[in-house]
Amino acid sequence: MAYDIQKIRADFPILHQNVYGKPLVYFDNGATSQKPQSVIDAISKVYKEINSNIHRGVHYLSTRTTDKYENARKIVKEFINAGHFHEVIFTSGTTASINSVMYSFGEKFVNKGDEIIISAMEHHSNIVPWQILCERKGAKLQIIPFNENGELLLNEYEKLLSEKTKLVAINHVSNTLGTINPVKEIIKIAHRNDVPVLVDGAQAVHHTKVDVQDLDADFYAFSGHKAYGPTGIGVLYGKEKWLEAMPPFLSGGDMIKTVTFEKTVYNDLPFKFEAGTANFVGAIGLAEALKYITSVGTENISLHEAGLLEYGTKKLEEIADLKIYGNARNKASAISFLLKNIHHSDVGIILDKLGVAVRTGNHCTQPIMDKFDISGTVRASFAMYNTKEEIDVLFDGLKKIIEMFS
Ligand code: ALA
Repeated sequence: MAYDIQKIRADFPILHQNVYGKPLVYFDNGATSQKPQSVIDAISKVYKEINSNIHRGVHYLSTRTTDKYENARKIVKEFINAGHFHEVIFTSGTTASINSVMYSFGEKFVNKGDEIIISAMEHHSNIVPWQILCERKGAKLQIIPFNENGELLLNEYEKLLSEKTKLVAINHVSNTLGTINPVKEIIKIAHRNDVPVLVDGAQAVHHTKVDVQDLDADFYAFSGHKAYGPTGIGVLYGKEKWLEAMPPFLSGGDMIKTVTFEKTVYNDLPFKFEAGTANFVGAIGLAEALKYITSVGTENISLHEAGLLEYGTKKLEEIADLKIYGNARNKASAISFLLKNIHHSDVGIILDKLGVAVRTGNHCTQPIMDKFDISGTVRASFAMYNTKEEIDVLFDGLKKIIEMFS
């Protein structure tokens, strides 16, 4: 089926507006994506028709909301091909998912002298939790380096693994460099050493097909809002054997079977990890977003975005005073760059006045900035609804900025 970009764009109401009198070009998808009408409708429908707390009421509305929430879990399970329904935990987002593993897995399995391996291209949300755990437990953080193109050095990774390693935590796609990391291989190497792996998939699930069983990931975390769904909802996939063995992170209502002052018995999976009233509206919205992605086809989206990446890279490379950061062979649709002698914030502010939304700064990846000895970049990140014509607008805008500063 042909990729019907006009139909896709028509499904996203926010795209059809002018900013400062110019048609909006939204290239800040790495920070958050826009939402199709079906997601907006699904959320509003819950509030209009069935809103009621889940897992608690015997009444009509509660039963219907609970069914919708559990159906959302089923949709997530199918989307990432989890082995079991109860391996899908709803959280508030990737950060919460990683922190849950940090606390629960760390509590049980990490001790003094142990080591956790991450990479030098992680988002702060996959660095800071592990630093806190290491500090708490007297463990040590080990870092996989990357080369000038933004590719991880797997031989260095192999050298870091030892009997002290308790977990590898790695991003699937770098939010700053766009690198698609060879997570399947990284997992295989870790498993040869009996080490489990957590994958931060925040920048991956909406760009590329994710099959957690094929990857053999022990944990896989992602957020709703980057995947065309609502904010405040995310997923932690975990293999049953780990989730069963781990103590809960948050505690309170819904995560228990029985409570007395003498003893509390925790609920079964997945509820053991879903204390309090879950963001059921968010989960229902997320399921709708995943249905939307599936209806367009993850492979079609990947192909379309690869076309945008190739076109965008070629166009930007035509600009003599522009340097791209992140030239991995396997890359998702994000381009980080700098214009010679022009601060990234200035570029972002002027592009905004031309209607182009990009992100500037360190993108919550200060160690990447340190590696390149820069304070930040301009990042254009593309989604399924972006077009080559929009990249032309970015290109013309950058030429204008260079002229202004010359
Ligand atoms: N992690 C988000 C980004 O890369 C906010 O922009």
